[in-house]
Amino acid sequence: MSRLLHPFTPPAKDTGDFLNIVSGKGSVLTLKDGREILDGMGSLWYCNVGYGHPKVTEAIKSQLDTIHAHHIFDPFTNDLAETLAAEIADRAPMPDSKVFFAQSGSEAVDTALKLARAAQAQAGHPEKTLVVSRTNGYHGTAYGGTSAQGFPEYREGWGELVPGHIHVPGDDVEALARVFAERGAEIAAVITEPVQGAGGIIPPPEGYLQAVRRLCDEHGALYISDEVICGFGRLGHWFGCQAFDIEPDIVTFAKAVTSGYVPLGGVIVGGKALGMLETNSAWKLAHGFTYSGHHLACAAALACIEVTEEEGLLERAAVLGERLRAGLQSLVDDGLYPGLRGAGFMWAVYPPEGRTPIDLRWEVLDQGVIARPMSDVIGFCPPLVSTEAQVDQMVDALAAVV
Ligand SMILES: Cc1ncc(COP(=O)(O)O)c(C=O)c1O
Repeated sequence: MSRLLHPFTPPAKDTGDFLNIVSGKGSVLTLKDGREILDGMGSLWYCNVGYGHPKVTEAIKSQLDTIHAHHIFDPFTNDLAETLAAEIADRAPMPDSKVFFAQSGSEAVDTALKLARAAQAQAGHPEKTLVVSRTNGYHGTAYGGTSAQGFPEYREGWGELVPGHIHVPGDDVEALARVFAERGAEIAAVITEPVQGAGGIIPPPEGYLQAVRRLCDEHGALYISDEVICGFGRLGHWFGCQAFDIEPDIVTFAKAVTSGYVPLGGVIVGGKALGMLETNSAWKLAHGFTYSGHHLACAAALACIEVTEEEGLLERAAVLGERLRAGLQSLVDDGLYPGLRGAGFMWAVYPPEGRTPIDLRWEVLDQGVIARPMSDVIGFCPPLVSTEAQVDQMVDALAAVV
């Protein structure tokens, strides 16, 4: 019997037949039974530079010869964390930013939520504590993110969550405007993904993100862009909000910042929110993680940023995203699937009549391809180093099973 409790899995489930991954190269994984499968999901939305990238593995190995980690609480720092913060701030969608490091997306989200409330309080608005989020938004599984996320079933069963969270229908600008009209004076922040990922690859309705920006400005609320999936190239830009010409106040990131080689997450605080946090120069940010600024994680991230630039992966995301979209559209045009949705290099299709996304996942896996069932769709979020032939293989696998 396995002693391992798996995430998002019933504790009582027999996991003996779980797929056992032993190695990976580029976009291809090898299972313990020797089978090779094409990873259409970049693991769990993160492996943008692909598996076994020599530049990233070398950076990590050589860093180990120097020092693996030392914390950066006052009065310590290190060059890797300093350099990475500067590299990320240079690419950030807002000017004059500073960067805070965590390990995961959930920690990044909880940090962002705390920073937003702290910024409001420091700027003289302690009454501004409410956080608004959208249905189908996924913001991780720590208590803050659990309270914010837009799946009622994932918020149940954990006891009392963090108070002060309001959920609005994810596709309804009027509902958002009403919340601001009624409670705008108490709203600290809105948190939203640029394209909702785990909710089922749902692009924002036309003008929605612009409306969030406008309402936040009108009511003195902060705009948190949760870029844990969209950040670091998925939509063909460093950050997903840049694909929509949005300048948020706070950005969360994780996943593709290191492509998962070493876990890393973080928060970019733009100049405006930073100014609020710095109102009282004696106020201390009493928040942080033991491994914030971890040497190995920062070395991995710097290598991933270099690979992204050297291999033109932002441009590749646009090219491959269009190829995937066109391929899936042809399946829809041929009447095999009823429709598709997505953006950048993450796309999903609705299953044909009588089939569920979970059925399709197993059938596509039999074709040697990993796709992910989510709510009402099955989708792809492949490594940005995938080849055109591999993208075609994903589309062909979907075609073969209907
Ligand atoms: C948008 C978003 N925010 C936060 C998280 C939580 O990240 P993690 O699982 O690294 O804690 C995720 C994870 O998928 C995510 O997609």
